[in-house]
Amino acid sequence: MSPKRQREEGSTAEGDKGDKGQKPQKEEVAHPRKRFYRARAHSNPLNDASFDVPTRPEDYDWSEHYPELMAEWRERQAAAGAAAAAAGGAGAEGAASGAEEAPAVRFVDIGCGFGGLLIKLATHYPDTLMLGMEIRDKVTAYVRERIAALRRESPGSYRNAAVLRTNAMKYLPNFFRKGQLTKMFFLFPDPHFKAANHRRRIINTQLLTEYAHLLAPGGWLYTISDVPELGEWMKSKLDGHPLFERVSEEELERDVAAGLLALSSEEGQKVARNGGATYRNVYRRLAQPRPQE
Ligand SMILES: C[S@@+](CC[C@H](N)C(=O)[O-])C[C@H]1O[C@@H](n2cnc3c(N)ncnc32)[C@H](O)[C@@H]1O
Repeated sequence: MSPKRQREEGSTAEGDKGDKGQKPQKEEVAHPRKRFYRARAHSNPLNDASFDVPTRPEDYDWSEHYPELMAEWRERQAAAGAAAAAAGGAGAEGAASGAEEAPAVRFVDIGCGFGGLLIKLATHYPDTLMLGMEIRDKVTAYVRERIAALRRESPGSYRNAAVLRTNAMKYLPNFFRKGQLTKMFFLFPDPHFKAANHRRRIINTQLLTEYAHLLAPGGWLYTISDVPELGEWMKSKLDGHPLFERVSEEELERDVAAGLLALSSEEGQKVARNGGATYRNVYRRLAQPRPQE
């Protein structure tokens, strides 16, 4: 393959970087190139574009997103069932009551864009299933290819990360049960500057109630923006919500995920390149509503 064609099809671990003439160390894996996944800068989250969504979370089959982990779980189930059957009736009942729950998504990256945060989280939390949710189809396709390439390149890694195209402002409860999530990320959400468009903002009081429903008590909701007014907006909505309390700076310093907010995602890297400031607001889901002043 000519060097030009090799670059076009992508062959480096970093996906978008050229190989600068050096011989790749690992088996060559084609990574997707962002330029083949150009998409409109914004889409209206309040329009009625239809998405295929399950009626209830329990109707959704996650095997397409996490094939290896789901197959391993099914094998364990089958082995436990066979062992219980061999042990006889009472044993079978015991095995059924102790049945292992199916692996479930715990982290979501809402509006994941090109997937930078997800890719970082996947290796920091290898035992946690995580899902990027993105409304733009080409961007979602890029992230899907990116994860597939990383899985091929590093067998056994990235099998806990996946992406799904949907409108996260409308359909989260179709995918997740009450209290299922332990972390929700909102990195550099669209600012929707005009007052008439503030209802399109993905952090608002009504949606925070929905996010609180989906988060386990003690779960964290992470936000970051480079738009001061939006940073202040998210802070005020979270401060005003009875089911959230601000996480202290000391706790954030000890938290791996909090350290990834500013620079892991493509938008964060762009902001850093341009020398922009960022506004980070992270909150904990309370078990009981906070008394209102
Ligand atoms: C400014 S970009 C930030 C992307 C990424 N979080 C980052 O930091 O690089 C905002 C992203 O949110 C996506 N988005 C906006 N509204 C959404 C919605 N309702 N559901 C899912 N994704 C949405 C956009 O398509 C876009 O990719």
